[in-house]
Amino acid sequence: MSILWRAVTSETNLKVVFNILKLITRSDPGLISIATDSVWPTVWVSTILLMNVLKRYLNFSRKRSSQPQGTMAAVTQVFACDSTSIVFSLDDQVVVSSPETLTALHTAASCLKDLSPVAFPTETVYGLGAIALNATAALKIFSTKGRPADNPLIVHVSSRRMLQTLLPQNYTLSPSYELLIEHFWPGPLTLLFPCDHSLIPDIITAGQPTVAIRMPSHPVARALIAVTDAPLAAPSANSSGKPSPTRAEHVLNDLNGKITIILDGGPCEVGLESTVVDGLHEDGNIRILRPGGITVEDIQRVLINGFSDTDTPIPQILVHRRDFRDDALEQAPTTPGMKYRHYSPSVPVTLMCMSDVPLGIEPLSPSAFLEDLKRSMPHSPNALRVGLLMPSDSILMKYLISDTTIQWHEFPFGLVSEPAIIARRLFDGLLTLEREGVDLILVEEVPEENEGLAIMNRVKKAAGSSQWIAIP
Ligand code: TXA
Ligand code: MG
Repeated sequence: MSILWRAVTSETNLKVVFNILKLITRSDPGLISIATDSVWPTVWVSTILLMNVLKRYLNFSRKRSSQPQGTMAAVTQVFACDSTSIVFSLDDQVVVSSPETLTALHTAASCLKDLSPVAFPTETVYGLGAIALNATAALKIFSTKGRPADNPLIVHVSSRRMLQTLLPQNYTLSPSYELLIEHFWPGPLTLLFPCDHSLIPDIITAGQPTVAIRMPSHPVARALIAVTDAPLAAPSANSSGKPSPTRAEHVLNDLNGKITIILDGGPCEVGLESTVVDGLHEDGNIRILRPGGITVEDIQRVLINGFSDTDTPIPQILVHRRDFRDDALEQAPTTPGMKYRHYSPSVPVTLMCMSDVPLGIEPLSPSAFLEDLKRSMPHSPNALRVGLLMPSDSILMKYLISDTTIQWHEFPFGLVSEPAIIARRLFDGLLTLEREGVDLILVEEVPEENEGLAIMNRVKKAAGSSQWIAIP
């Protein structure tokens, strides 16, 4: 009887229930003797069975019809948002004058409160946001992106007041952090802070003693956080390992059907992720873990100007892998690309260098480089299709495109003297050329100064190989 009762009450074993019901309705004598000796309990049991089956059927059909799209993620909706309709007052209150944008923000906020991730624009790249203080919500970011669990997330806030709610009670900001926040927030600068583990779920920090926080300047990002009234954890809104999306279309191409809402705020102005800064060391120095939207030169200028007439010593700025190494960091991993493959489209990327030829490497002439390329690339009997991401004033360009046996796909990249424009176009270029179906993408190096440092940081990680070329 108890076996039968478990089968009756089990919501999960519908098939078993069906089979038992079939047996009972056929008045199988064997089963009736298991259930009971008289016929009345058999009628009673079969009635309950029938009710359970009906209940399950009704629940199932109700779920199918009224399932919020946030859970099933069958359809991804893109809502256009007008950034110019969003204004923040001096006390961080948001006012949205466009009714469509306001509705989109409220719809996205309720999706987030239902613990489903939402893609939204920031000034750097599109982010995939979830309520940061809810571990279940944050977990969905990892499953949607296929992100390794040991890669911590950045928490996004909309105001200083919201930042304060995340910090340990006895913690006061250092003079360097005060300066950096004053100059670069809201904006593409992420700072590490000591983590209050009673508040911030371990999944956000991946067990690190610190938590990374930034205040984005994109009006849609900041308004979404303010309307949701909660800090949002947000990595870039792409499948792990792919180039970061800088337009809503990139997010849709990658995550269509995996998320329910994308807020479209137009193309991202910066185009590369935020600079990640660790200023928590006792020596007071500023360590750049990831170069990004705020340049090392910008940070240096602000610190020198801010401290030169004070008693505070001017901190040194140390760029990871350029000025210091940290094996523990690399294994954590606490900055992108240190441990995992990053920014790689599905087609091979080759970095073309002309400076700093390593010892023992003999640079190729442009024509020898192209012959090598044609030999090594499996391609159709038709022309090899090669995508080019090269500054428009590159001297190497004309040597390459003079080879008319190759089908060239040029993506406008900006001048060498305009690294901010190249930064804005890099991920867009990789993703656009990948979609055009090229066989290979060639990227030319740029000087590692200003935005060039972040550009080369991403390009080196995206490229599977490098080739040194010398112009005759
Ligand atoms: O611009 C950006 O920062 C974008 C937008 C969406 O805000 N976000 C972004 O997130 O680039 P994500 O997850 O792709 O990169 C964040 C990086 C992580 O790879 C992680 O290693 C580092 O920041 N990070 C996060 N928490 C950290 C921590 N506690 N210590 C050191 N690094 C940390
Ligand atoms: Mg990322």
